[in-house]
Amino acid sequence: MDREDLWLFKPEITVLQTSELVDKYASCLVEAQIRSNPNSILTLPTGSSPIGMYRLLVIAHKNGLDMSGLTTTNLDEYWPLPKNHPQSYAAFMSENLFNHVNIPDSHRNIPDSSAENPGVEADRYQNILKKIGPADLAVLGIGPGLTCHIGFNERGSDIGSRTRLVNIDPETVAANARFFGNINDVPSQAITQGIADILEAKKIILIAKGKGKAQGIQRALEEPVNKNAPASFLRLHPKVTFILDKDAASLLDTF
Ligand code: GLP
Repeated sequence: MDREDLWLFKPEITVLQTSELVDKYASCLVEAQIRSNPNSILTLPTGSSPIGMYRLLVIAHKNGLDMSGLTTTNLDEYWPLPKNHPQSYAAFMSENLFNHVNIPDSHRNIPDSSAENPGVEADRYQNILKKIGPADLAVLGIGPGLTCHIGFNERGSDIGSRTRLVNIDPETVAANARFFGNINDVPSQAITQGIADILEAKKIILIAKGKGKAQGIQRALEEPVNKNAPASFLRLHPKVTFILDKDAASLLDTF
């Protein structure tokens, strides 16, 4: 699956002047999804990119946006990490969204970073995804530098990949060291939804901000669709919107 003639769809690309506008636009799209279907299934990301979007969704909730009908499935989680580790994605989600809105506890899904057996945990999570059904909307970030990863689907991930334990690319480990303080404390593995899981969503939004994402965005949108640029697989999906600030879009031919 790496030939140019497999390009099927043109993603919508929205380039905004500032990262704050990216947050605003992304939160408006998520809010519109929730208002159009209050029982939506949302696939959600972590990382620094979606923090502003979550902040605006919390404000929207305080202003009356009901989230009690939502079901969420997170994209990925480090493994192994104690569940209450401040850098676990479970902790991230609590801090940035779940503690401030009314999504029922039982409707929030994320792989268990402290599972004894990661293979069993990946299978358990895959079964949950299957039971819940395809997401109405998946929100994604993109990996740093050349990684072009989505979820933790690093370079080499197959289009048919499913939820599994993966090795985190050294470039990603280095970029994520800023959250841990010491690079040696960053887990080298993670459990992630696969490319095939992500592509099952009915709609997909990818947000990217800053120069550090420019190469990944260029690879995703202008290189042939191939597994060494995992985000390029999004071009095989009919309803994808890339929301970029001007720095993230700066290496694109068309801008
Ligand atoms: C992590 C996550 C990705 C996320 C990426 C971007 O590696 N696994 O799902 O998209 O980081 O992070 P940031 O937004 O902090 O650049």
